[in-house]
Amino acid sequence: KKVGLLYGGYSSEFEISKNSAQTIYNNSANNYQLYLIEVKKEAWTVVLEDERIPFDFQNFQFQRNGENIQLDAAHIYIHGNPGENGKIQALLDMKGIPYVNSNALASELSFDKWFCNQFLKGLGANVAKSKVLQKNTTYSTEEVIEELGLPLFVKPCDSGSSYGISKVKNAADLTPAIEAAFNEGQTVVIESFLDGREFTCGVYQDKDGVHALPVTEIISDTDFFDFTAKYEGKSKEITPANLDQKATEAIQKEAVKAYQFLQLSSVARIDFMLVKDTPYIIEVNTTPGFSKASIVPQMLAAQGTKISDFWTNIYNYILE
Ligand code: DAL
Ligand code: MG
Repeated sequence: KKVGLLYGGYSSEFEISKNSAQTIYNNSANNYQLYLIEVKKEAWTVVLEDERIPFDFQNFQFQRNGENIQLDAAHIYIHGNPGENGKIQALLDMKGIPYVNSNALASELSFDKWFCNQFLKGLGANVAKSKVLQKNTTYSTEEVIEELGLPLFVKPCDSGSSYGISKVKNAADLTPAIEAAFNEGQTVVIESFLDGREFTCGVYQDKDGVHALPVTEIISDTDFFDFTAKYEGKSKEITPANLDQKATEAIQKEAVKAYQFLQLSSVARIDFMLVKDTPYIIEVNTTPGFSKASIVPQMLAAQGTKISDFWTNIYNYILE
């Protein structure tokens, strides 16, 4: 089968998506021919070793040396808009093209930090207390602080890789933090601070069911797991986490539960704070970072799974 591996997109995470797609491409699923396709607003482009060819996404095909190459399916590896938030999934649904991702609704709901937080809370998961702000609505910093306390986190609802996120410790820093978040996203969520250790857990589904990967602990040198901690080496990621079996299983169980509640597909990574012995879900990533140094590849390495076998298994389940 020919699969278009889509990367890029419109968000600040363009380059990160490119790296993720490159790792998947370099470890191609057995029996699938992958084509890298760069997605930009202006155009979609097939990126071959020695040439770049316009991609006709209306018909999911491209022309090469007079030959028409029709792709059978897509694997969308765009962090943020328009991939992780379900937009391309919806487009492909309209065209009847299968894809190796969570569906449009599950992607959009999971990607928006506010909707996901509320949805998981409604289903009984532990989450931070939070409040949403829409652009151009008035708010009172006193009321926000009274409700959520300090420190607190300010995040764009629809962004990734910590772009636009601030940890606010002083009342005076709240308004600038909210403005910074609005530079990245349309809505902003403000969350109470969860004081604990940070963990994350990958989850995927295959023909045998839903499985949790090993748990990773994240120890940031910076004040929280921000962009520099994520991409400039300013964090330690320990897999499997140095955590007793009971707590490990509690996190894995919550991760699987969230995956099932949200009706996800393919691989997702669920981020947690462990407060005393209780796992709180921080967020759900339906397109988790997949560069060589990213966390899910570390989880696979820890359990001895080759990246190509991992994707072959998932592709077989979703596409066959
Ligand atoms: N948004 C980044 C890529 C992640 O979730 O890993
Ligand atoms: Mg994220």
